[in-house]
Amino acid sequence: MSHLLLDELKNSNNFLKKMKIFDFRHNHIFKEEERSEIFNKVLKNDEVIWTPHLTPYFWKISGLDKNKYDTFVETGTYRGFTIDYLKNKKAYKEFHTIEITDKWYNFCREKYKNDDNIHTYHGDSSYVLPKILEKINKPCIIFLDAHYSGGTTGKSNKNEDTPIIDELEYLKNRPYDDIIILDDIGFVGQVGGEEPDKIPEDNVVWAPFHYDWAHVSMKKILNCKKSNYVSVQNFYSLYTLTPRDDQLIWFPKKNSE
Ligand SMILES: C[S@@+](CC[C@H](N)C(=O)[O-])C[C@H]1O[C@@H](n2cnc3c(N)ncnc32)[C@H](O)[C@@H]1O
Repeated sequence: MSHLLLDELKNSNNFLKKMKIFDFRHNHIFKEEERSEIFNKVLKNDEVIWTPHLTPYFWKISGLDKNKYDTFVETGTYRGFTIDYLKNKKAYKEFHTIEITDKWYNFCREKYKNDDNIHTYHGDSSYVLPKILEKINKPCIIFLDAHYSGGTTGKSNKNEDTPIIDELEYLKNRPYDDIIILDDIGFVGQVGGEEPDKIPEDNVVWAPFHYDWAHVSMKKILNCKKSNYVSVQNFYSLYTLTPRDDQLIWFPKKNSE
């Protein structure tokens, strides 16, 4: 078990190069027709599951006690796809999710108004995440997915595409054994894509967009990892049910060996 983790850690230096081909939104990995087929399935909630739900394999290799993790915190709510899935699975007792846009915050606040265990928050997760976590005195599963994603999604007043460094700097000093899932790591250091001429209709879930993650480097990200933490990449959906590799999962090593 620890050999596997060590190998992954060693390989993590190289993975960014590989990541460039994993950006599904810009056609580096899937052909156009494959892409629409996948997204149609996602929309119908059929077969392909794009969720940060941790796999039985993750719990096995991490050695962590699943029962200690009953709280899921998400940055970037958008339409609530992840919360919907985890809610339906009854995966956790409590959910907290932060969205910066009025549109998608209001949409999800309304959607979850009868769910006492789902808490929606409005604002920039750089500021809101610490406020929420200050009141949660136990380890959480924290899914970092706030970033500008085109169309009707938003970004912070700082005009940065992602608050991931601010989020991680805060998390590094939290005195709990949180499990942190970093999504869309393929964007790290990358600038590209194109904004469409007009804002797409609401039925376009992921529109093409221009992204600028130049201010984020893998070095800065890894500097925010606690020294006793392991970082694994989600090859072949090993650790979460997301069929893309551009996720990192960080968890405390001390319980895993
Ligand atoms: C990729 S989508 C999230 C998808 C969602 N987590 C899911 O799995 O279904 C990213 C969302 O983050 C939001 N966002 C961007 N910057 C943010 C910030 N600084 N704080 C909070 N939300 C942000 C965007 O408006 C967008 O709705």
